[in-house]
Amino acid sequence: MPELSAAEIRDKVLALGPWFHNLDLNGVKTAPDHFLGDYPAVKWCRFAQAIPADLTGKSVLDIGCNAGFYSLEMKRRGAARVLGIDYDEGYLRQARFASQVTGLDIEFAQLSVYDVGALAERFDLVLFLGVLYHLRHPLLALDLIREHVVGDLFVCQSMQRGDPGEEPLDPDYPFSETAIFERPSYPRLSFIEHRYSGDNTNWWVPNRACMKAMLRSAGFVIDDNPEEEVYVCRPGPLPSAYGAIYPARPPAHTIKRVGEVAA
Ligand SMILES: C[S@@+](CC[C@H](N)C(=O)[O-])C[C@H]1O[C@@H](n2cnc3c(N)ncnc32)[C@H](O)[C@@H]1O
Repeated sequence: MPELSAAEIRDKVLALGPWFHNLDLNGVKTAPDHFLGDYPAVKWCRFAQAIPADLTGKSVLDIGCNAGFYSLEMKRRGAARVLGIDYDEGYLRQARFASQVTGLDIEFAQLSVYDVGALAERFDLVLFLGVLYHLRHPLLALDLIREHVVGDLFVCQSMQRGDPGEEPLDPDYPFSETAIFERPSYPRLSFIEHRYSGDNTNWWVPNRACMKAMLRSAGFVIDDNPEEEVYVCRPGPLPSAYGAIYPARPPAHTIKRVGEVAA
């Protein structure tokens, strides 16, 4: 692919916009007026050190990759394979263009987080950054990610609102106990019926205790919390037999159709 001039890059960036990621494509900024500043570079520099600096030979899945900022960073760290998935084809076009301009070989595919089972592959590192609160079914997404694609490291980031505190909770409470739910630090997921920050794709925003509890409940152990919204996790014990895991395909013997005898 011949190298593009700055003017050609600028024209293409304009044609592919608007951009959420402010990338630097050979000196051309894709979202210089981002409402969060130089985003996501300003976020990344707060947790970059918590992710292995050398990813040589590793595979990476970037869920909700948008224009590929984090996919590009993982490739720069030497990852053998980076796959970015997003359900928005417009963002994927931006990501493919960024990979072309930077010369970094990254695969991008249109896929929803709810369909990660279709990848039939586990990755050494899975990124799930800035997506959870955009989902109507956040726990289902965490369950599916844990069940199907996390091989070793899982890095999750979510917007958080509400009380940032954490207090120990008992494993069980009697039915008569109601005051516990009034504690500001009780794990809480706030539902947004309409919009938040002008965005009608924001659905559920956890407080800090809730984010951590959901990760544990989906079968993750939190190793590190390098930035207030970022959790570096590994697969841990799964919830009990009747836990939250939603199987993509239930084992055949659990389905008894009319006239059939269960195996
Ligand atoms: C706030 S952006 C975060 C982008 C990037 N991961 C980051 O942290 O900067 C949310 C991204 O998630 C994508 N997304 C939302 N719902 C999704 C879904 N169900 N499956 C895959 N991607 C999704 C959106 O298209 C968007 O690119």
